[in-house]
Amino acid sequence: MTENEVEIVEVGPRDGLQNIAKYVPTAVKIDLIRQLAGAGFTRMEFGSFVSPKAIPQMKDMEAVLEGLPPMPGVTGMTLVPNSKGAQRALAAGVKDLIFVMSVSEPHNQSNVRRPTEASIADFKATLEEIDPLGELTIRVGLATCFHCPFDGVIDEDKVISTIEKIVPIREGMEYAISDTTGMATPAHVKSLTKRCIDTFGGSARFCFHGHDTAGFGIANVLAAMEGGIRSFDTSVAGLGGCPFAPGATGNIPSEDVVYLFQRLGVTTGIDLEKLLDAGTMILAESGAPMASHVRAIPRARLFADLLGIPPSRAVAA
Ligand code: COA
Ligand code: ZN
Repeated sequence: MTENEVEIVEVGPRDGLQNIAKYVPTAVKIDLIRQLAGAGFTRMEFGSFVSPKAIPQMKDMEAVLEGLPPMPGVTGMTLVPNSKGAQRALAAGVKDLIFVMSVSEPHNQSNVRRPTEASIADFKATLEEIDPLGELTIRVGLATCFHCPFDGVIDEDKVISTIEKIVPIREGMEYAISDTTGMATPAHVKSLTKRCIDTFGGSARFCFHGHDTAGFGIANVLAAMEGGIRSFDTSVAGLGGCPFAPGATGNIPSEDVVYLFQRLGVTTGIDLEKLLDAGTMILAESGAPMASHVRAIPRARLFADLLGIPPSRAVAA
């Protein structure tokens, strides 16, 4: 990536859908992924191999993967909470796994029903068992890095000491520094992301995974960028949230982040119009509430501004 480029990782098919009570049919999930790939996303969360009792929405993960058409150049990651999830992912041919664990104990307990130390130990043992040669691409989904729904604001030192325990398991992994509850302030995001990069930059990669509960999402994206981050998790139409983090709302909307970077002259590789179309489809099919500012802007104005022409002329055209 050049200085003027960022990566937007679309997490709608996993983080976006997991919090929606209405079951989204397999064919719609497949269509969503296909449309998002068509909009230019080269890395996505395709879903998760979790307990169907914990997240019924993800019970068709195998069928979704089986039904996907070939999408050259697109990397699909799937989240796993434990070794059983990792085994299911491998059996389905997945090569990019996200192991989820939380910095805060009560959230780890609520989300995956065990202490963080147990998640780290299971992660280590699972990797040794399923990937002794290091052929898989592994991301650590590090939840509650800023704020926990039960413990409140999280101390930076606790995040650093948690990463210190994980880094020796495998060099070069990616860490999604996650604002699970969407309550982080921009100052906190800048400070922690910078500290992570300064401390582990040689042995780990970092992306920022934000939610927009407090309305600081876009500000937090810019703050993470100031901290040195160039990869951002976002969700189409701002869908999503963690069902085990009460009071958290959706991810930062992909449309808003793509539009922001376009206005700033930073390349994302995403076709905003196709992204808007994908969002229209999934909002209609899921009945989920829309949480994107950009979706509320009349399209003519949106694209006229991007082209630098008055909206009246864009409408006429
Ligand atoms: N996929 C499917 N089923 C799974 C599973 C997985 N990854 N892990 C466990 N199970 C099944 C077990 O086989 C067992 O099934 P049974 O009741 O038919 O025997 C049952 O779930 C209970 O297993 P157990 O190991 O006791 O799990 P648990 O009840 O303590 O739940 C998790 C732990 C991790 C499986 C569950 O909390 C979970 O899936 N959490 C994911 C939460 C999530 O996705 N959050 C949002 C993302 S951040
Ligand atoms: Zn999330």
